[in-house]
Amino acid sequence: MSLFVKKPLASLLAEAESGSHGLKKTLTSFNLVTLGIGAIIGAGLFSLTGLVAAENAGSGVVFSFVIAAIGCAFAGLCYAEFASMIPIAGSAYTYAYTTMGEFVAWIIGWALVLEYALGAATVSISFSQYFGKFFHNMGIELPQQWMHSPFESYTLADGTIMQGGNMNVVAVIIVILISLLLIRGTQESAIVNNLLVILKVSVVLIFIAIGWSFINPDNHTPFIPENTGTFGHFGWSGVLRGAGIVFFAFIGFDAVSTAAQEAKNPQKGMPIGILGSLAICTILYVLFSYVMTGVANYTEFKGSAAPVAIAIAKTPYVWLNQTVIIAILAGYTSVMLVMLLGQSRVFYSMSKDGLLPKLFSDLHPKFSTPFKCNLLFAVFVSLFAGFVPVKVVGELVSMGTLFAFVLVCIGVMVMRKSEPNAVRPFRTPLVPLVPILGILVCVAMMVSLPGLTWVNMLAWMVIGFVVYFLYSSKHSKLRNPGK
Ligand code: ALA
Repeated sequence: MSLFVKKPLASLLAEAESGSHGLKKTLTSFNLVTLGIGAIIGAGLFSLTGLVAAENAGSGVVFSFVIAAIGCAFAGLCYAEFASMIPIAGSAYTYAYTTMGEFVAWIIGWALVLEYALGAATVSISFSQYFGKFFHNMGIELPQQWMHSPFESYTLADGTIMQGGNMNVVAVIIVILISLLLIRGTQESAIVNNLLVILKVSVVLIFIAIGWSFINPDNHTPFIPENTGTFGHFGWSGVLRGAGIVFFAFIGFDAVSTAAQEAKNPQKGMPIGILGSLAICTILYVLFSYVMTGVANYTEFKGSAAPVAIAIAKTPYVWLNQTVIIAILAGYTSVMLVMLLGQSRVFYSMSKDGLLPKLFSDLHPKFSTPFKCNLLFAVFVSLFAGFVPVKVVGELVSMGTLFAFVLVCIGVMVMRKSEPNAVRPFRTPLVPLVPILGILVCVAMMVSLPGLTWVNMLAWMVIGFVVYFLYSSKHSKLRNPGK
């Protein structure tokens, strides 16, 4: 029975109120929205948009974004209720602890590593590709074998195909640098994040504004190319498959909830941060993809991980290319920043509860950040960034995230029954309809992921169970109150 022991809501609220956790309350609602946008706009928008247009949906990628956004909105509404009600750094992990008990909480905390830590790894790998492209445009070829994992093939500038590099050093270095910044402090990180967000949103807006007048209506006709007879290959089935892929572009809005303990006014700030960043990004994505597939024909994006450059080449503004790459690199940096921040905060909470060793919640004497946790994750994330192919990590990220979303949607319904009178500064509308729709959309997207991703996810969970039974269950503060 004690496997499903629940953390009483009252004690959580007292913990949030007391401020005894030591994290500083510095983030405003504006910071929270930029934190969300910081985590959201990245590799998904700047590289998947073109691939989905070319392979699945044509200009219909616009609708793919809309569908993925609707799925995220259901989950986002559930997150907003929890985050405003229980403003604790552990996010979905903490919500599960009060609603479904310790074991489920452990599972979700463990799954969040897939989202946050591996999310940062995925983006760092994509970062290295744009980084190489920046130098390539200046006539400098960086050593490609140090920018690819041993398990992926890549093409040299002269067209030679190589089977596997040594290690992705660029990805590793950027992960380490960001981890060091996070150790310096959340407020410092938030300031850097604000600058990065301003830069990447400006580029998205400039692209939309400039591109608008170069839209060729022929490229939008037909808006959704006819299905080729295969599911997912154009037509509406292509739009749906595309939605599952561009889901990655929305991952991150939930990371706002991990900063709840550092928010000045989480009751108001959390819903604004989560739903505001999601809404702003949806609008930008729709406009961006509409312009992109209007300026260039969807067929031209085939096989390119840098579709923005292809679209820019259709305008007289080719000189903008390098600036755009810089902004994209800035954008990726902010995604990694928020992901790594979220990761350390989840493990911080799990450590506070005794489920993980104390070193994960030890705060730096001067900077008040969980620095040992940041350092350990710098190493863990670097291993994936350096040695694992982007596709393998990326799909695991989506799987872990969707799994967490499903549990949060279930949690909202459970909590409405178990704590009907608790104060809810934000209420998810139409419960249980919204959470149920959230579950359905997320499960559908999970099912569309490849079998190998399921195997990897299960393997990760088995490791988690071993850690739980060998360590966490014996050290849990809730299960061993005397200890
Ligand atoms: N949504 C983030 C990105 O697209 C993970 O990079």
